[in-house]
Amino acid sequence: MTSRLRVLEFFAGMGGWRRAFGARAVIAAAYDISPPALATYARIWGERPIARELATLPASEILRHGADTWVMSPPCQPFCRMGNRQDLEDPRSRAFLRLMELLGEHPPEHLVLESVEGFLGSGAHALLTDRLREAGFRALEYTLDPQDFGLPNQRPRVFVVASRGPLAARALPGLPPAPLRGFLDPVEDPGLYLGEAMRHRPGLDLVTADSARTACFIGGYGRRYVGSGSFLETERGVRRFSVAEAARLLGWDPVPAFPEEVGLEGRYKLLGNGLSIPVAAWVAGHLG
Ligand SMILES: C[S@@+](CC[C@H](N)C(=O)[O-])C[C@H]1O[C@@H](n2cnc3c(N)ncnc32)[C@H](O)[C@@H]1O
Repeated sequence: MTSRLRVLEFFAGMGGWRRAFGARAVIAAAYDISPPALATYARIWGERPIARELATLPASEILRHGADTWVMSPPCQPFCRMGNRQDLEDPRSRAFLRLMELLGEHPPEHLVLESVEGFLGSGAHALLTDRLREAGFRALEYTLDPQDFGLPNQRPRVFVVASRGPLAARALPGLPPAPLRGFLDPVEDPGLYLGEAMRHRPGLDLVTADSARTACFIGGYGRRYVGSGSFLETERGVRRFSVAEAARLLGWDPVPAFPEEVGLEGRYKLLGNGLSIPVAAWVAGHLG
């Protein structure tokens, strides 16, 4: 049996990378800074991430974990239209900049990064590419969508997978998206239905149980309507997808348990900021 990767999970959120790596990896340490993420990760995985601002992470802290693999999904706002695309000038890029310094000084064997499409061609992308090349990594880049992995959910994301050892591109599974009905709760929550005024709101993305598509769920799905994800049209009206349904559409199986103190908005936010698990697992599969 090949030995398991020893992973540092930066920007851990609810631990999508931990789920995606599964038995391939031991998590040497996970880091996050937001209380809902820390509480949710602890609820799902039984271990609380290290609550640390990564912008000031000392090298000694990295070295003490003896990890061979870094995985990261840095904040995407610096590369999003809604975040003003300030790229490396955005204060939220400071943690990424610090990790790029550490990558130059103490490179691991493998690195995986996930980001939004706006990352491609950014200053952050150029910096990562330079650091990887200088440290002798091979790197592969993909833009992947869960719709090609059998899921009825759009979520195009950029993945960089890099290694100082052998690295070969993988063939895409090319699975067509399944109909939505298989992802719906057996008993629906009437509280999810929108009022009359809201259901006719222009720009609402509507799907039915027979659709094989939902729009990308973003962190604001719990409080926004237009541009935040899809809504389900049934005989009864129009409703939001439940947290469990959103989790299933992101490939969480079983659906994760959230701590009580994280409310509905917080749950949608964690999922909307997170990963599509089958896509991330396919990326992780490059490393053994
Ligand atoms: C895009 S989300 C990552 C989601 C994660 N991949 C998952 O599967 O849920 C980014 C995470 O980074 C955390 N974060 C943002 N800036 C940080 C910083 N400077 N130091 C530590 N964590 C940070 C946020 O709290 C958030 O949970």
